[in-house]
Amino acid sequence: MSMPADGNSVRLFAAEVLRHLGEAVVDSQTMESHLDPFVRDLVRRPDLLTLGVPREGNHVRESQYLYYDPGLAVTISHQANGVAIPAHDHGVWEMLAVYRGKIAHTRYRVFGDGLNPLNVTLDVIDERILGPGDAVLVMPPDDIHAFTALAEDTYHLAVVGGRYNPVRHYYQPDQGSFLARSEIAWRRR
Ligand SMILES: [Fe+2]
Repeated sequence: MSMPADGNSVRLFAAEVLRHLGEAVVDSQTMESHLDPFVRDLVRRPDLLTLGVPREGNHVRESQYLYYDPGLAVTISHQANGVAIPAHDHGVWEMLAVYRGKIAHTRYRVFGDGLNPLNVTLDVIDERILGPGDAVLVMPPDDIHAFTALAEDTYHLAVVGGRYNPVRHYYQPDQGSFLARSEIAWRRR
């Protein structure tokens, strides 16, 4: 199915996500591959940056809601070139897709219970360079990722299945540690 490039395409994208969530079995790979063509259709719209309403981003300064209800949000955000967003979890599934530019994206898995903030082991389970239309979906318990924009004027879409955990884990994989921080601690840095 191809979505029309009219004012309904954001709503139709959200409706497709909700329809897929209503199916019996949802895992990250199935969902990522199912939504891939719909994301690629959505990012073909040249006007996505003009459609949203402002939001205060947690890791980004310039961000808009394209769609919001309490169980699903679609946002579009500017990602500053070269600024590394550290490894973090979410508590809900999140799909990250590139609208413009390029992003280096890494997924991690915690080895063991991961409860000791000074002794935690993270394995890299996926590394990709994402260009326009490319998307990665993370889902608990493997909902940890880090990413860095590799180009000026990089914008990404985030599709989020509900509310983030109010306290998030920010990992330092090289040091084997993490900090538990309110997600809004990242704002206005
Ligand atoms: Fe994230």
